[in-house]
Amino acid sequence: MSVIERTIVRFAEPQDLEWCVVEDDSVTEQVTRNKIVNDEIIVGEIDGQLIGYVRLEYLWSKIAYIGMLFVEEAYRRAGVGRKMLNFLENHLKEYGHDVFYSSSQADEPEAQAWHRGNGFTECGMINGLNEGGIGEVFFRKFLA
Ligand SMILES: CC(C)(COP(=O)(O)OP(=O)(O)OC[C@H]1O[C@@H](n2cnc3c(N)ncnc32)[C@H](O)[C@@H]1OP(=O)(O)O)[C@@H](O)C(=O)NCCC(=O)NCCS
Repeated sequence: MSVIERTIVRFAEPQDLEWCVVEDDSVTEQVTRNKIVNDEIIVGEIDGQLIGYVRLEYLWSKIAYIGMLFVEEAYRRAGVGRKMLNFLENHLKEYGHDVFYSSSQADEPEAQAWHRGNGFTECGMINGLNEGGIGEVFFRKFLA
């Protein structure tokens, strides 16, 4: 079976906390714990091993935004990122969202290519948002 066929996408569960905290150290353990309870973290799992991660945020507590997304290097370009995105989109549609947002650093052309290749369009930039004065490019995707 291919990587994509073997990959299970699901919401993170309490037993995934440690992996999530190690892999995404940009938020505290407390934040991660709360997000797991609130279905705001999605993971990709292959043969019992976690390999993909999406952290969902809500701008103004209501507009969905991907705060973090990654796939372990060895499993990239196999469709895992897209499979997690599909899962997220179905979840958002179920809750009545018709649009959501994402972003990437201005100096990360590959991440930007992934967004464009998955139906996002660029919708703005915040200059100097990241360390070193690097800007952040924002993307939007409408849900049919
Ligand atoms: C961005 C990332 C999550 C993509 O995950 P992935 O599982 O490798 O992506 P997928 O295999 O689902 O790609 C789906 C489509 O996106 C596009 N795409 C993906 N990676 C791309 C790249 N490096 N360059 C150009 N297009 C790309 C392609 O259209 C691809 O379809 P194809 O392979 O049939 O051509 C992964 O590369 C990653 O973890 N990168 C490091 C972290 C990061 O940059 N995160 C995003 C910013 S928050």
